[in-house]
Amino acid sequence: MTSVPSSQKALEVVQFGDPLKGALKLNKEAPVPKPGDGQVLVEMKYACLNPADVFTVQGIYPGVKNVTEKKPGFVAGLEGSGKVVGTGSGCSLKIGSRVVPLLGEKAGSWQQYLVVNEKQCIPVPDDVDDATAAQLFVNPLTVVGMLDEIQQNAPIKDNPWIVQSAANSTLGRMFIQLAKKRGLKTINVIRTSATKQELVQLGADEVVVVSEESDVTKKILQITGGKGAAAVVDAVGGEIGTACCSSLAKGGLFQGYGLQSGQPIQVSNSDLIFKDIVIRGFWLAIWFPKQSSSVVQEVFDMFRKKELVPHIQKIFELEDYLEAFKAQFSPDRRGKILFKLT
Ligand SMILES: NC(=O)c1ccc[n+]([C@@H]2O[C@H](COP(=O)([O-])OP(=O)(O)OC[C@H]3O[C@@H](n4cnc5c(N)ncnc54)[C@H](OP(=O)(O)O)[C@@H]3O)[C@@H](O)[C@H]2O)c1
Repeated sequence: MTSVPSSQKALEVVQFGDPLKGALKLNKEAPVPKPGDGQVLVEMKYACLNPADVFTVQGIYPGVKNVTEKKPGFVAGLEGSGKVVGTGSGCSLKIGSRVVPLLGEKAGSWQQYLVVNEKQCIPVPDDVDDATAAQLFVNPLTVVGMLDEIQQNAPIKDNPWIVQSAANSTLGRMFIQLAKKRGLKTINVIRTSATKQELVQLGADEVVVVSEESDVTKKILQITGGKGAAAVVDAVGGEIGTACCSSLAKGGLFQGYGLQSGQPIQVSNSDLIFKDIVIRGFWLAIWFPKQSSSVVQEVFDMFRKKELVPHIQKIFELEDYLEAFKAQFSPDRRGKILFKLT
């Protein structure tokens, strides 16, 4: 084991609620854990601030055990990257190996050191940098999963049009890139025009700006020649999700995967009956365990070839977590907020 300190900085959820109003506290003297049999100690380099982490702090995300058990007093953060600095007995990973720890329902990436089972570490190839690797899991794999679902179950044979809401999100930007690679055309629904040109440069086929359109559904129908979209992926819900859903073609597939407006969509019985649309959700936590490990290598490969670029808005020190959350809640961001941990 290389020399590691006995204490570390960790951003802890001390009560569920608003991250800007006392739900979080930086513990500068948290103990550094020791790896047991089959476990490694990872010195974390970067961690993401994802919307699911915000929901974790708020106490509404069902993917983290402390949330479902209503037990604050833990370190949040679903993903990040780092390197192995200690190993328990029976481990084959070497000290210095760069890894992405899969933390699952334990979470805990917002700290400098964490212990994880060796089997839950994904080795990072040399030609993928730490900040990119920190974003390996949550967003890229969701994009791959939703596109697989569309290619298997949406009526895309004579209709390549896919609508996505929250298209300016970090995930939305990757969705544009990968959909294009797979021969699909995207209609990208965004709130304001601030980032429209950037999305076009990324490969967006069409951009619909909600603040400039009196009728989003009508606009999508116009773009698709009256046919409607083969699929919708919606991270917003509420009025925007409803407008996108109403634009589906016959047999179209709606995948709800985010809660950004906090509001439900409305689905017309008429669309269910006469257009036979399919409404379902997508959650990585359900999809990923059914996949083979090659799906992760597929993402690394796309990172390498720059076919999939996870954009970064700004990197914050853990001490500046309040500023990080303010940036997270600002509109028209251009990528992910990361924490730099060591
Ligand atoms: N189901 C799953 O398994 C899964 C996995 C990964 C991610 N997700 C979801 O995917 C979405 C994108 O993730 P991300 O990391 O890419 O997010 P992100 O970079 O933080 O971006 C969030 C996006 O939400 C939009 N937004 C926020 N509040 C909104 C509102 N009230 N109405 C409309 N749009 C709103 C923002 O729009 P502006 O650009 O206009 O500011 C921004 O584009 C999130 O909802 C996340 O929870 C789901």
